[in-house]
Amino acid sequence: MTAPQDIKPMPPTRRHKVQRWWWLFQRVSGVLLIVLIFTHLFVNLMTGDGVSQIDFAFVAGKWASPLWQWWDFAMLLLAMLHGMNGMGYIINDYASRKTTRTVLHALLGIATAVIIVLGALVIWTFDPCPVDASGALLEGVPSFCEDVL
Ligand code: HEM
Repeated sequence: MTAPQDIKPMPPTRRHKVQRWWWLFQRVSGVLLIVLIFTHLFVNLMTGDGVSQIDFAFVAGKWASPLWQWWDFAMLLLAMLHGMNGMGYIINDYASRKTTRTVLHALLGIATAVIIVLGALVIWTFDPCPVDASGALLEGVPSFCEDVL
């Protein structure tokens, strides 16, 4: 019988640490997204008049509140990064050539960054009380805009 060998684990490289971080992020963000998305769906579809209440004033009313701005931003960021990382695993599984993998990872990173920036701009630069050239409120704005102008 041979004596059990003393196998020392290899010290993790920086790359391994990054991969481990993304593995954990994927699990944590998955759980958070369930809460964020189902609350989003419940508030928009089940409360008040349901789906028929969704118009400009509804969105403007929600984004006048920092809570919903941060809620939507968290949903946007986590959903995009979760999806990007998941697609990254699929690329690694199916693209066998190194050049193909590099190109696909780059395209995925660019698409993710563009969507996060555009989505964040919509949330953070949204004007709930838009006015026309003469300074009068446009039609369909929420009622609180009368008090703001
Ligand atoms: C029938 C289903 C859905 C309806 C009716 C709906 C409706 C809306 C509405 C009205 C807004 C504007 C502001 C707000 O209400 O928070 C919005 C924003 C948003 N929704 Fe949904 N949604 C649906 C499903 C989803 C799902 C499944 C996701 C998954 C991640 C999602 C992600 C988002 C995000 C990230 C934003 C912010 C968009 C931005 O950054 O400009 N929605 N949605």
